[in-house]
Amino acid sequence: MRDFKGKIVFVSGGASGAGLGQAKVFGREGMKVAIGDVRQDALDNAVKELIAFGIPEKDILAIKVDLTDRADYTRCADKIEEVFGGPPHLLIQTAGVNSFGPIEASTFDDFDWVMGVCLNHVVNGLLIFVPRMIKAYAHKTEFWVATTSSMGAFMSGSGTGPYSAAKAAVNNLMYSYDEALRPYGSGATVLCPGNINSNIGNAEKFRPANLKNTGYRVNDKTMASLRAIHATGIDPVELGEILKEAIENERVICLPDHNPDGRAAQLRGLNETIENYTLTRAQRDEIAAKRRAEMMKAMEEARKSGKEPPMPMWATPEDAEPFGKARDDLDWIDPSKKLQKK
Ligand code: NAI
Repeated sequence: MRDFKGKIVFVSGGASGAGLGQAKVFGREGMKVAIGDVRQDALDNAVKELIAFGIPEKDILAIKVDLTDRADYTRCADKIEEVFGGPPHLLIQTAGVNSFGPIEASTFDDFDWVMGVCLNHVVNGLLIFVPRMIKAYAHKTEFWVATTSSMGAFMSGSGTGPYSAAKAAVNNLMYSYDEALRPYGSGATVLCPGNINSNIGNAEKFRPANLKNTGYRVNDKTMASLRAIHATGIDPVELGEILKEAIENERVICLPDHNPDGRAAQLRGLNETIENYTLTRAQRDEIAAKRRAEMMKAMEEARKSGKEPPMPMWATPEDAEPFGKARDDLDWIDPSKKLQKK
């Protein structure tokens, strides 16, 4: 899809972070911008930001919606048609939340919240919008489907279970949709960022009251750790530009790395990790030890040659606690997975 001007974009989670960056980028292309988000105060603020960015107020539609609620999401889709005269030509599903802790500590609420927003909302939007988009635009004009997933889609982690599982499923769905939409003259792109300068570190604050029972250690201090990491992430508008390039060039996976060699190397490394799961545990341990030794050697050589060794990516604030730990009262969890009291 290359022709954006005068068309309609809907961005889920568009009131903040990556979604707001995407709304700005495609609004600047002359699109009518609809954003959907569960937080009214964030929506009000986003509208101000979009206007300040130069998007005409008449081309902005902010809709309060819980994207995990199918009836509510359907109402949101109806509203877009009512106000802008048709379904979106470009659907970007970006809303997401995260919560980290040992997978064996997870509760049903942890899975239902994270997978509900990160995966189920994407399914809801695809089922609500895609038939409308095909009916309105197939073989008449360009249209496209995009989703914000994560580098986590290619990885697994004992502390990121529900999130990684949701994102892996989202990627897989997008590969299917790209193939499915080809006969209609369309396709799909899945954006897989590593770290974004967004507000996702605060997601736990807005966790719905009916899904609050977490097995993880979550408090203001663990959120402060997450915020410190995300503060070093890519700028949302820059990320939106990278997504635009990927849509224009019909890429299915968009890794936010401008260097094609970097992209290929990243994926080769991740694929190798998956291939290695076919090996025995002893063989995998041997490979991991070799990788660690190579990394230590490289750091030592950098130190000896006077170059700075790689620095940690972020500085954790003094009042922060590590995230990814289990709740104290879960008596089956290994003590190393709980906060070590000093
Ligand atoms: P953000 O917190 O700044 O924005 C996410 C938005 O989704 C928020 O405004 C939130 O209110 C909204 N949202 C959450 N649940 C909702 C629901 N049920 N209904 C409607 N809206 C809802 O976070 P960010 O980082 O911009 O996240 C965007 C996407 O990027 C997510 O899918 C996330 O998983 C993904 N991502 C983020 C990374 C990061 O480092 N921040 C890295 C890789 C992927």
